[in-house]
Amino acid sequence: MTGRKATVGGLVTANPVWVGSSELTMTLDGLITCVDAGAGAVVAKSVNESAAARRQLDIADYAFVSAGGRVRPAGAARRGDGLLNRSGLAQVDLDDWLALLAAGVEHGAARGCPVIGSITLGDPVAAARIAHAMAGAVPAVELNIGAPHGREAPAVRQLTEADAVHDAVRVVRAAVDAPLFVKLPGQASDVVALARAARSAGADAVGLVGRYPGFLPDLGGGAVLGSWGAWGSPACLPMSLYWVAKARTALGADVPLVGTNGARTATDVLRFLASGARAVEVVTALWIGGPAALAELVAGVDAYLDARDPDEFVGSALAGAREYKDIPPVRPPAWLPYTARWSRSSGR
Ligand SMILES: Cc1cc2nc3c(=O)[nH]c(=O)nc-3n(C[C@H](O)[C@H](O)[C@H](O)COP(=O)(O)O)c2cc1C
Repeated sequence: MTGRKATVGGLVTANPVWVGSSELTMTLDGLITCVDAGAGAVVAKSVNESAAARRQLDIADYAFVSAGGRVRPAGAARRGDGLLNRSGLAQVDLDDWLALLAAGVEHGAARGCPVIGSITLGDPVAAARIAHAMAGAVPAVELNIGAPHGREAPAVRQLTEADAVHDAVRVVRAAVDAPLFVKLPGQASDVVALARAARSAGADAVGLVGRYPGFLPDLGGGAVLGSWGAWGSPACLPMSLYWVAKARTALGADVPLVGTNGARTATDVLRFLASGARAVEVVTALWIGGPAALAELVAGVDAYLDARDPDEFVGSALAGAREYKDIPPVRPPAWLPYTARWSRSSGR
């Protein structure tokens, strides 16, 4: 087995570096590739009941954007790039999909790597029906209620109010005995309230946070992708870590959290763990770097945790997160605009 085990919501996984749901995990080959590259767990591509959500995949498109704002030519993406994309759900018949998942589960089980089924919320009752069927094929189900395409593609939903989260999760929870993980959007005024609602409705673990809606003019009179999209980049990492750390603080160490959105390196994964996540779902790093990038993350995280107690490391950064009111006055650095030095050097 590669790496250190991570147990999340009753599910034992090979290590804390999981592959998140995306087109990379939409085929049996894709699932097997991720398992064989050393993933701790692999989340399969999402499905739901809606033909419209499946049709969205016909217009899927992807643009990698450098930190300097340049759209890369196809195939030239680098590790630090952002990704703007449109996406849809797996275009499959449910029975065929369950057979594919079962084959992936079997392959993963031999390597200690669970393959997790995924549903992106459309209608909660339909999601419950799918989750029930899916739980016969997989050891855990992830329910994504934070689709960043929700406004553009109403067949996938982004819930941003605690009551709505509670109602949807309760319906799906009632339909499955298997571990149920709920993945939340980052784009809500109070993500901790959503986490609390998901948990009180019966989620075994909470995923934080989904990617953001995005828009990028190309300055030629149009827009990159020619539409709105979903956006993620390494710059999203501190925003994701904020909500993981806040959820950990509010809900306590007993509530399993799974981090996602912005991890490109082993250090990023470790920062998620230090903020309170027990595992981290990575996607874009693999789109850019392939299976070798996944193997690198797993090895890097494993090497770091080797000298530590992983259970103690999870959430360890919170000891350094002081409330503003507890911080004694600090001397303003000389470069600040209201210091004399800045005023002189700017000729004022
Ligand atoms: C192209 C693409 C497709 C995705 N499709 C899904 C999906 O079907 N279901 C889901 O829950 N998340 C989906 N995601 C979100 C990822 O699982 C993951 O949470 C997100 O990409 C943030 O991690 P990253 O910064 O490592 O990419 C998708 C992400 C990308 C980039």
